[in-house]
Amino acid sequence: MDSILVTGNGPLKGQIPIAGAKNACLTLMPATLLSEEPLTLTNAPRLSDIKTMSQLLQSLGAEVTALNDGKVLAMSGHGVDNPLAHYDIVRKMRASNLVLGPLLARLGQAQVSLPGGCAIGARPMDIHVTALEQLGAEIELKDGYLHAAAPRGLKGAEITLRFASVGATENTLMAATLAKGTTVLKNAAREPEIVDLARCLRAMGALIDGEGTDTIVIDGVDRLHGATHQVVTDRIELGTYMIAPAIAGGEVELLGGDIALVETLTQKLQAAGVEVSQTNAGVLVSRPNGRIRAVDVKTEIYPGFPTDLQAQMMALMCTAEGNSVLEETIFENRFMHAPELMRMGAQIEVQGGIAKVAGVAQLKGAPVMATDLRASVSLILAGLAAEGETRVNRVYHLDRGYENVEEKLSGVGAIIQRVPGE
Ligand code: EPZ
Repeated sequence: MDSILVTGNGPLKGQIPIAGAKNACLTLMPATLLSEEPLTLTNAPRLSDIKTMSQLLQSLGAEVTALNDGKVLAMSGHGVDNPLAHYDIVRKMRASNLVLGPLLARLGQAQVSLPGGCAIGARPMDIHVTALEQLGAEIELKDGYLHAAAPRGLKGAEITLRFASVGATENTLMAATLAKGTTVLKNAAREPEIVDLARCLRAMGALIDGEGTDTIVIDGVDRLHGATHQVVTDRIELGTYMIAPAIAGGEVELLGGDIALVETLTQKLQAAGVEVSQTNAGVLVSRPNGRIRAVDVKTEIYPGFPTDLQAQMMALMCTAEGNSVLEETIFENRFMHAPELMRMGAQIEVQGGIAKVAGVAQLKGAPVMATDLRASVSLILAGLAAEGETRVNRVYHLDRGYENVEEKLSGVGAIIQRVPGE
């Protein structure tokens, strides 16, 4: 397994290009199952999760061709004829469960393996199942697979999600586009990735209103046609690299960044003493000399502070002046980066969903282990500010969600390299 070596090297300076959103692309790709005509995605990120989703869609009979070095995905659902999403693929990536709704809508059936637990939590699918059953699907769990069937097709319904689950909103939204009649989806998730999905589905001929609010209304249509859609900018990659100059000092411009996608992070960084502004080219972040101030963070559903930026913010708070409290309300086990940061001299006390951080003047480089995607990048951020060398092991986690981390950070003056694994 590869490792990444980072050596603290003082303030950063320069520009980092931000890619298309992983979590938008992973729900836009299954949309190709809804139509027999070609769906082309541009601005796609080059990530291992995207390759995994491509393999899954191809196993279902779809065509997926990566063009332009992977930035364009030319897909077609014309040949989709297999309702089985196999465990061997699904266990590698939970987002595979986003083929459930589209398969039900297109084929009238689906057998999708449950993804199984993951490092950050059990991540059940009860909200997905309840919503799709309200659209007329019959779903039962057998041999670790969700066996779903809609023998009489899907029928629009009024649905209220018990929790604004991102994936359940996406599965239900996609299924409802081909249901008979109108679906009103209440307590829907409001993430920008859902807005992006709705825009793509509308370009395919879907009738959707209200995306980005907590109530989405979908009028089912008989079929969807092809489209070309540009994947929205990745707000989590953007937020991650905004924290790089905040923790290491200096000034970095995140090309393609839109401050509207990271409002709560921006407010927190400004409260900590970091300067954040929108330029014509993207988001400019600079941290003058001296330490930043400690701020408290509570993760919430959008538009609250994103859980996917909690680990990165914790790394930053480890170097702040003062004490901060980070509360994780979305996942039950998302503080695995804390013990690794403590190996670098951070002072963190974790009790359930609360982490109390006492900022220290200087972190020290150390060998640490990545445990999940966002934890791995928080260790690299800490390494940028640490004295000496930090070796982050198991970086396959990193490659799932961040393209060319070494190139992007070296480009602004970081000393960082990948060491091939044994
Ligand atoms: C999406 O996961 C993202 N993944 C996650 O990003 C992100 O952390 C999460 O939304 C929250 O914003 C993709 O978009 C591919 P949820 P998802 O359903 O859809 C519980 C990353 O780092 N829940 O909103 O799986 C669940 O256990 C990844 O890029 C149920 O109980 O998130 C969790 O505690 C990590 N039953 C909470 O809700 C359900 O049926 C939020 O889950 C569904 C979810």
